[in-house]
Amino acid sequence: MQSQLSVKHLLGIKELKKEDIQLIFETADQFKQVLNRPIKKVPSLRDITIANVFFENSTRTRLSFELAEKRLSADVVNFSSSSSSVKKGETLLDTVNNILAMKVDMVVLRHSSVGAAHFLARNVDAKIINAGDGTHEHPTQALLDAFSIREKLGAVAGKKVCIFGDILHSRVALSNIFALQKIGAEVMVCGPNTLIPKYLGELGVKIEYDLRKALEWCDVANVLRIQLERQTIKYFPSLREYSLYYGINKELLDSLNKEIVIMHPGPINRGVELSSDVADSHHSIILDQVENGVAIRMAVLYLLAGKQGQ
Ligand code: CP
Repeated sequence: MQSQLSVKHLLGIKELKKEDIQLIFETADQFKQVLNRPIKKVPSLRDITIANVFFENSTRTRLSFELAEKRLSADVVNFSSSSSSVKKGETLLDTVNNILAMKVDMVVLRHSSVGAAHFLARNVDAKIINAGDGTHEHPTQALLDAFSIREKLGAVAGKKVCIFGDILHSRVALSNIFALQKIGAEVMVCGPNTLIPKYLGELGVKIEYDLRKALEWCDVANVLRIQLERQTIKYFPSLREYSLYYGINKELLDSLNKEIVIMHPGPINRGVELSSDVADSHHSIILDQVENGVAIRMAVLYLLAGKQGQ
């Protein structure tokens, strides 16, 4: 097995090889053991300084990266655009170059613009991790999602995973499609046709518009939020109607002759895409996904820092 990633930055799953994903999973397995010990900290990155640079709101990704960095003994600084000199007109590049001037080694970037992490990787001298760029990619989310499927079902290869909901505005969907296909899962998307981009057919993804048929097909349902904040036009008549046709509830799951694993990257719009009795049921691994996010991000940071074998 390879002992190093084939990439210098983590910009997207598209750039990763299957072997990179396997290496990240095997490294995360070890860090998960660390996280379950009374002392949850290792000295691996104690000479590394990491800036979490967030231009968009986040709860899970930001806290998860910060915890992962602290568990690895890195020095951590947090930047939030809402309380920064971006408000005075400073550019992304000037902002990051000023942060790097303070001897920062790695940048975790969340930005609303597609390609922002790629732009930084081309223009600054630091390791860049994409924590979500607009509607494009959210690679660590896809890694923790696939890792959680592997943990729950024993493997990802050969499993049928359907991604439900607002595929058009989702960075989680595209990263999940790339990750799941690379490691051998079959992937379907399901939602209203207005929220399914036409190019998905070219990626070898199955497309289904009927919720029940999609649920009958899949082993795992990864349910996405309707991203009203990114929707500039109306893609469906009302949230009530969306919920009627695409909301997953306990009655529907109970009517299937099989068990399905329910996932959601968060934040959940309870009562819209998922009812509370499903989100909080034994079908759901939503909080396991969050727990696994710390181990996955530790693995990514550790491997990108190039500390293994030293
Ligand atoms: N899943 C996810 O990216 O959540 P946050 O927006 O809270 O980070």
